[in-house]
Amino acid sequence: MKNILVTGGAGFIGANFIRHLLKQQPTVRVVNLDALTYAGSLENLRDLPATDHYTFVQGNICDGTTVAAVLRDHNIDTIVHFAAESHVDRSITGPGQFIQTNVVGTYTLLEAARQTWSSAGQPPAFRFHHVSTDEVFGSLLPQAPAFTEAHPYDPSSPYSASKAASDHLVRAYARTYGLPVTITNCSNNYGPYQFPEKLIPLMILNALNGRPLPVYGDGQQVRDWLYVEDHCEAVLTVLQRGRVGETYNVGGDNQPANLEIVQQICALLDELRPASPHVPHAGLIKFVTDRPGHDRRYAMDITKIRRELGWEPRHPLSRGLRQTVQWYLAHGDWIQAIQHQHEYSQWIAQNYAHRAGDAVAAKPLAQPGAKSS
Ligand code: NAD
Ligand code: TYD
Repeated sequence: MKNILVTGGAGFIGANFIRHLLKQQPTVRVVNLDALTYAGSLENLRDLPATDHYTFVQGNICDGTTVAAVLRDHNIDTIVHFAAESHVDRSITGPGQFIQTNVVGTYTLLEAARQTWSSAGQPPAFRFHHVSTDEVFGSLLPQAPAFTEAHPYDPSSPYSASKAASDHLVRAYARTYGLPVTITNCSNNYGPYQFPEKLIPLMILNALNGRPLPVYGDGQQVRDWLYVEDHCEAVLTVLQRGRVGETYNVGGDNQPANLEIVQQICALLDELRPASPHVPHAGLIKFVTDRPGHDRRYAMDITKIRRELGWEPRHPLSRGLRQTVQWYLAHGDWIQAIQHQHEYSQWIAQNYAHRAGDAVAAKPLAQPGAKSS
C-alpha cells in the first residue's frame, strides 16, 4: 500500500479517513478524488497532517477518463471507495443521482481499476476496498438476531438499493475478473465533519438555534451508532489484514432508539450550554411525519472482524456523543462555511416544510456562537 486513491474524501467519513491514514501511515501517498457535491467540502480537509503526501483532484467517479488518468498518473495500488450519494431522505425526493453515482460511478471505478490492474500484470499488492452500509440488509424485527455478513440483501430505499447494487458489482468483478476486493458494510456513523442533514448534527444545530427537533414517526427506530474514528480504524485494519474477497460487518455496539439519542444530545447541551434560553433543550422535540419505507431497526453482528482482525469499536455512545457535541460547539466557523457554501436552508425547507413539525424551516439560521474552550 503506497499510493492510495480515496474517493469521496471531502465528505464526512472520507475526510476523517484521510486524516487517520496520514497520521497512522505517514509514508503513504493519498490522492483524494471528489466531485465536491453539496456533501463535500474542502473545509473538511483544512489542517491535514503531512500535506506533502496528499493531492486533491476535483472530479466525478462517473467520468471514466478522469478516473483512468488519476489511477495512471499517481500509480495507484489501493482504492478506498467512499464516494456516494449518502442521504436516505434525498434518495426519496430524487433517486436519479443515487443510481448515477452509487451504481454507475462504482461500475466506472471498477472498470478503470480492472484495466489498470490487468495492464500492470495483475500486481498482487493491488486492492479495491468498497465502503458500504448495513442498510443493504433492510429492516430487522425487534427480537431478530443482528445482521451477519451472510444476511440476505433486502434494501428499502433508493439509497440502500443503489448501495446494494454497487456491492453486487464489486463482488461480480472479484468473481469474474479476479479483481482483489474487500468490502465493509458499516452502521450509522457520527462524529466531527458530518453534514448537518443527518440525525445527530441536525439535532445539535437545531437545538442550539432553538428550532424544533424533528423526530420521525414515534422515534423508536433503532440504529447501531458507530463513532467515525472507530470506522476509520476498521477500514484501515481491513486494508492491512483483511482477506481478499471477504466482506466484514462494522458496527458500534450502540443501539438506542432515535428518541433516546435526541434526548441525550439535549441533556449534553443543557450541561454544556446552561445559560442558553433554550434549556431544557428536550422541550424542542417534535414528532413529525415519518419517512416513507423507514427501516425500523438495524444491528450489526461484528463477530467476524473482531475474531479475524482483532478490531472492535472503542467509543461507547456516551463518550462519542459528548465528543461530537463538543466538536460542533467548538466549530462555529465550519458550520457557517458549510451552511453558506451549499443550499442547506433550501434542503431543510424541502425536507421538513411538509412534515407536521411545521415550524422547522421557518426561522432563519443563526450561528451557534463563539468557540467554546
Ligand atoms: P457524504 O455524503 O458525507 O460524502 C460523500 C462524498 O462523496 C462527498 O465529498 C461528495 O462530494 C462525494 N461525491 C458524491 N458524488 C460523487 C461523484 N459522483 N464523484 C466523486 N465524488 C462524489 O458521505 P459519508 O457519510 O462520508 O459516507 C461515505 C461512504 O460511507 C458512502 O459510500 C456511504 O454509503 C457509506 N456509509 C456511510 C454511513 C454514514 O452513516 N454516514 C454509514 C454506512 C456507510
Ligand atoms: P439519518 O441520519 O438520515 O441516517 P439513516 O437514514 O441512514 O439511518 O437518520 C437516522 C435515523 O434518524 C433514521 O431512523 C431517521 C431518523 N431521523 C429523524 O427522526 N429525524 C430527522 O430529521 C432525520 C434526518 C433522521
